Amino acid sequence: MARGPIVATLPAIFWRPGHRLQGGSDRTLPVEPPARHGYMATMSGDTLTAPPESLAPDSATADAERLTILIAPHPTLKLTARPVGPADTEAVRALLPRMFATMYQAPGIGLAGPQVGTLLRVAVVDLAPKNIRQPIALINPQIVAVSDELATREEGCLSLPNQFADITRPARVRVRYLDDTGARREIEADDLLGACLQHEIDHLDGVLFVDHLSALKRNIILRKLAKEQRQKGR
Ligand code: NI
Repeated sequence: MARGPIVATLPAIFWRPGHRLQGGSDRTLPVEPPARHGYMATMSGDTLTAPPESLAPDSATADAERLTILIAPHPTLKLTARPVGPADTEAVRALLPRMFATMYQAPGIGLAGPQVGTLLRVAVVDLAPKNIRQPIALINPQIVAVSDELATREEGCLSLPNQFADITRPARVRVRYLDDTGARREIEADDLLGACLQHEIDHLDGVLFVDHLSALKRNIILRKLAKEQRQKGR
């Protein structure tokens, strides 16, 4: 996901050690912020277990080779990613720092596997990439509950550069996932984080934010994007 151009209108929400969403809501979150250290080592079943490693994610991320972000209408963006399994441990361990590095450089606040040509159910999120980094690595994320209440906010996407539209989604979601240490986690989120999580999980099912729009609005955006890409390619 990319931030819209009118950043000042977005509420500032950050993960803090107090487990609260700052800005939009004062609700206590049911989970600890994801651990920042250690990438997964081994997995059994769908649970990843990893001894903590002395891998400093910031330096690992800084050094990580960046990936190419696929731009719509690349066909890979329409495919469904498959769940991460035990055989994918090494691949995901190598992938996560590169996905964070790619997202931070873009800059964006979320990036999903298919956007970098990887059809694994992996996404990275950081709502405050320019401040204190609060990386969230999501492996096999699943929406387990949504609110009846809806919320509309402007969304953008690194795969649709410079395109933005108001998207309506459930205002609040509960997401279950494995973090980068393999621990099971659950986040309940609304506001920017809630929208971002839904946006990234959509990517894992081949859904782009424009797919939530009418065909007319979608085609206007896709044509504008294609025209911009042609001009850029000249
Ligand atoms: Ni996106």
